[in-house]
Amino acid sequence: MSKLAIYRDFLKAHLWEEWEGLKPPQVRNEPKPAEQKPYPPDARLVDLVAPEQWQITSVPLLEILKKRRSLRRYASEPLSLPELSFLLWATQGVSGPNPQFRTAPSAGGRHPFETYIAALSVADLPIGLYRYLPLQHKLLPLREKADLAAEVATACYNQPFITGSAVVFMWTAVPMRTEWRYSIISHKMIAIDAGHVCQNLYLAAESIGAGACAIGKYHQERMDQFLGVTGETEFAIYAAAVGKR
Ligand SMILES: Cc1cc2nc3c(=O)[nH]c(=O)nc-3n(C[C@H](O)[C@H](O)[C@H](O)COP(=O)(O)O)c2cc1C
Repeated sequence: MSKLAIYRDFLKAHLWEEWEGLKPPQVRNEPKPAEQKPYPPDARLVDLVAPEQWQITSVPLLEILKKRRSLRRYASEPLSLPELSFLLWATQGVSGPNPQFRTAPSAGGRHPFETYIAALSVADLPIGLYRYLPLQHKLLPLREKADLAAEVATACYNQPFITGSAVVFMWTAVPMRTEWRYSIISHKMIAIDAGHVCQNLYLAAESIGAGACAIGKYHQERMDQFLGVTGETEFAIYAAAVGKR
């Protein structure tokens, strides 16, 4: 099979039949992978504004859908912490009685992503790299760095709009969470899942007078290194820049 045919095949659903005959870790009674990466117990987490507390104006979905565009030029106005809280919750927030219920759908409720943000211009939040903890709805600070914008841009092949954005969202996949149930068909599911997450970001951003631009073109090793992930059990899969209109 040519390389092109192999990659096309990845998009097809044939593997469901093969999956039926497999014994993925779940069937072998192996423990379920954690829903969220652990963090140091003594970490000083950043409180985000809870969904009950933010004052986000309701905008009709029809209006948002009509207006949605990829935005690559941003106003200099920073995002506020309530706005960032809303965007994080809209992409991966827990919205039901257990962590399986999120604002974005995921095959089998496996939610294989971790969300990292490079906060470049957010009021009351130091410039830095953070990880979102959906189960706590808090941010875990990873590192503060003045030249963070340049580093993220480099990891995204220096696409020009990135340094002018307020926040860059970067999603990693922890494939084992989905593989535990879906083994070989997981990777198609994970790729589809990622699209839902980013679309939620687009729509949520639009509703607060901001805009997003998806970033599929990033350098795998540079991005993994920037995020401090292994590149094996966890690796970057997608990103998006956001800023005010
Ligand atoms: C999977 C995916 C990857 C993308 N990657 C990039 C990217 O790396 N750089 C960029 O400028 N735009 C990127 N985009 C944005 C598209 O170029 C944009 O959605 C398309 O031109 C249609 O424009 P619209 O979103 O304004 O409707 C990406 C969009 C998607 C869905």
